[in-house]
Amino acid sequence: MRILSIETSCDESAAAYLEITRGRIVRFEHLVATQAIHEKYGGVVPEVAAREHSSTLPLILSGLAEKVVGKPDGAALGRRVDVVAATRGPGLVTSLKVGVDTARALAAAWKKKLIGVNHIEGHICSAWLPGAPLEAAIGGAKGLFPALVLVVSGGHSELLLMRNHGRYALLGVTRDDAAGEAFDKAAKLLGLGYPGGPAISRHAKDGDPAKYDFPRPMMRDPHFDFSFSGLKTAVRYFVQREREKLADPRFVNDVAASVEQAIVDVLVAKTVRAARQTRVKTVILAGGVAANRKLRETLARDLAAELPRVRFVEPPLSYCTDNAAMIGMAAFFRASTGKFDDPRTIEVDPGWELGR
Ligand code: KG4
Ligand code: ZN
Repeated sequence: MRILSIETSCDESAAAYLEITRGRIVRFEHLVATQAIHEKYGGVVPEVAAREHSSTLPLILSGLAEKVVGKPDGAALGRRVDVVAATRGPGLVTSLKVGVDTARALAAAWKKKLIGVNHIEGHICSAWLPGAPLEAAIGGAKGLFPALVLVVSGGHSELLLMRNHGRYALLGVTRDDAAGEAFDKAAKLLGLGYPGGPAISRHAKDGDPAKYDFPRPMMRDPHFDFSFSGLKTAVRYFVQREREKLADPRFVNDVAASVEQAIVDVLVAKTVRAARQTRVKTVILAGGVAANRKLRETLARDLAAELPRVRFVEPPLSYCTDNAAMIGMAAFFRASTGKFDDPRTIEVDPGWELGR
């Protein structure tokens, strides 16, 4: 199966080509462009993002054609494709629409199958991409499911029970801010720019994570929901009170390390408890925040100590943040079930929740 996939749910314009034969990836190309324009606003501006997608996506697609067929020729690329896929939700409505409308136009013009992919399912499927731990399990693997998935990104913090591809049950979700948002907002308060996650972890490396005791909301509650807005507020008041210290790099590093520790503590405690209660065989970490080294290391360590028989799977760093390769991978598993969308009626679904 040969899949062309498109991702435009937030501020990355991306396209990928994935060719899978008998459970093996035999060809793989992908391109992603991050919209730098949002840095000056300190966050993603939806209308600006959609306009940027409209102008960038055609260039990304011709660049992909160049990689796959050796020339920027869309028709030649079309002849090499069986399925066209795009992220249909969740995400920013106008951004999603650029990707979905492009995909439906290509599918209709080329007379190919069409699949609208759930962005969260895409993040999860990054664990099956080339070089990722589950690449060899594309054709199926014994002892993998049920799996517990922690998806943490700028827009989502979710714990899902995955019984198989396409079979999810939502165990918990954030009630306010996502984990990535907590990183981004803390970074903004510390004057570290956008996106904040990478900046916080860079500064945290040289800081003391035990220096300031920030709240760990809902960490010990029996349910699996998250809440990060209280942490954000606590950091805001603290930084306002101590604002003259912001000029001191040691202070910034210590706050960054303490915030990172608070977020990681909550995510790891809930994930380990959910894994124990659901008796899963595998725990999969995914989403932009999965690029956080402290989170990866702490979750791996605590799972190994408390549930040594559970396999821990984390995607390579390069596939954690938004990309189209993961959307192609999710489309492959959907296509394998024979469920396709109709180019005449497909709609974006900005609030699409997986597993509800
Ligand atoms: O998955 P993603 O690219 O976009 C969404 O679907 O939201 O995730 C982006 C989020 C941002 O909030 C960013 O700050 C966060 O992932 N992030 C990180 C790191 N790298 C990216 N957060 C913590 N540590 C990191 N190293
Ligand atoms: Zn994402």
